[in-house]
Amino acid sequence: MCGIIGIASNKPVSINIINSLKKLEYRGYDSAGLATLTDNTINEKKCSGRVEELEKILFKTPSNGNIGIGHVRWATHGIPNLVNAHPHSTDQVSVVHNGIIENSDELKKELEAEGILFKSQTDTEVVTLLITEALKKNNPLNSVFKTLKKLKGSFALGIIFKNFSNIIIGARRGSPLAVGYSKEENYIGSDSYALKSMTNKISYLDDGELCLLTKDEVSFYDANLKKINKKILTMSENDTSTDKGEFKHFMIKEIVEQPDTVRNCIDEYVDSLKKNINIFNFPIEPQKINKIILIGCGTAYNSCLTAKYWFEELTSIDIEIDIASEFRYRKLKFDSNNLYIFVSQSGETADTAAALDICKKNNVKTCSIVNVIESTIARNSDWVLPIHAGIEIGVASTKAFLGQLTVLYILCLKLAFIRKDIDEKTYIKKISNLKKLPEAIKRCIKNDSNVQLMAKEFASAKGSMFLGRGSSFPIALEGALKLKELSYLHAEGYPAGEMKHGPLALIEEGLPVIVIAPKDKYFEKTISNMQEVIARGGKILFITDQKKESLNENIRFGFRVPHIDNLLSPMLLTLPLQMLAYHVALLKNCDVDKPRNLAKSVTVE
Ligand code: M6R
Repeated sequence: MCGIIGIASNKPVSINIINSLKKLEYRGYDSAGLATLTDNTINEKKCSGRVEELEKILFKTPSNGNIGIGHVRWATHGIPNLVNAHPHSTDQVSVVHNGIIENSDELKKELEAEGILFKSQTDTEVVTLLITEALKKNNPLNSVFKTLKKLKGSFALGIIFKNFSNIIIGARRGSPLAVGYSKEENYIGSDSYALKSMTNKISYLDDGELCLLTKDEVSFYDANLKKINKKILTMSENDTSTDKGEFKHFMIKEIVEQPDTVRNCIDEYVDSLKKNINIFNFPIEPQKINKIILIGCGTAYNSCLTAKYWFEELTSIDIEIDIASEFRYRKLKFDSNNLYIFVSQSGETADTAAALDICKKNNVKTCSIVNVIESTIARNSDWVLPIHAGIEIGVASTKAFLGQLTVLYILCLKLAFIRKDIDEKTYIKKISNLKKLPEAIKRCIKNDSNVQLMAKEFASAKGSMFLGRGSSFPIALEGALKLKELSYLHAEGYPAGEMKHGPLALIEEGLPVIVIAPKDKYFEKTISNMQEVIARGGKILFITDQKKESLNENIRFGFRVPHIDNLLSPMLLTLPLQMLAYHVALLKNCDVDKPRNLAKSVTVE
């Protein structure tokens, strides 16, 4: 979950390293650092905190050097402070690392037994010291190769060498690493986004591979150090909007963008003229799909859980869902007639990628629903369904959630129709309802003032609960996740019917309880559950799509979303919850785009 960058150029690189680190900050923002080579000396600058602090340091004491590496950190080993910030250097070598060296304690003991001293608490310093030792007898490439053989765990590494002032070595196992090319400059970076302002020509290292770059050329090596060739991809230009524009935060910009991102997504998949869904080339013949298993983490998992209700409602396919970190360690029975679908905004989430690898090893068909089409998960799966949401920068996932739901819904409709689980009339009706979604989303977002009133109820609360039934249950989970992630306020999402099995004990006078109750087959049941909460003093914030006025003295605030089709309600009911989390975070002065302890792309287990 750290971000790394490396630039080999014919001109000073520190400013471009800083610019790339700013783009990589979504991956970690505990500390930042860079190292450049000047007059055969490694020149390191580091700070705890954000890249802007590093920029200030560089402003006062500029770093020259035409070759350099940079890092933004999300702490795993050792607290986030200056000493543990990357790069980790000796007088011979400087290293930036994303990932976790699982056997670092063991290797550290071996090195200490030889009298070698450590400065930091990080696992990365082991890599620096092993390479330094190996350099006594080997050239840089062999030193790195020999060091990698000793490492267990996951890593993407960027390394520069005091005595080899024109090269950067990159290596990958588990954590992603992109290589970029331009005239008289070459790059490594944790993702293509970090390189975007410098190049759109990209290659990706696969697991176990290394690269050696100079300003003029890049050489690639496989896990046995045999030279290999790599395909050069031209990156898509559909996600160029990477500044906040008129908005105070990326999160609110991304919330407001949702009518457009959902419309883009629908336009990509729906043929309006033919009233058909353009999804073809299923990796398994649709009629033969026995079961679909949906896998993701966090918000992506919540979209899987929502889709489960749709697939059960519309198709004859069995559905299972799982959290990727659980799936990867379960003792599973794989079936070649099952389709395994991986949902991930970034396409780099370590647990999701590992779960996908397990499926591949078991020779079953895989599909990924991702936002980043150049990502590891997309590249490793048999079939990719992009969500076309454009870059999402706020750590809290908003437009990607709606994008994931839209693609899952479209896939569900297509499968239901091909398998004759629904007739043509229903299929066409559902498609035409779906096309109304962007406009309805727009109407919800306009209704912001009610949400601001609701937010005030949370600013001083000790905790909160989010309740829903059916497909509103995953939306309750998502609402609670957003609130805790952004405002650090305890929030529980629950199926409303579960309250009396324990959580009702938490209800006390004035506790804010969000009840999500669209007018579906669960409505009356949810209202009964709500009454049980009211009877115990809970302060109800009611979110519904029903027309009748249902506020009373026990229901403090309400938010009404438009109604299009019961199955589309989850998308609309999500919007007030996203806006609520945003406004509570503002009231509590929290860092909306970079909540504490988190990172956008979770590339460690
Ligand atoms: O990139 P992914 O969709 O795989 O990320 C999964 C989760 O880490 C992510 O959804 C996380 O829960 C969000 N920060 C929630 O807003």
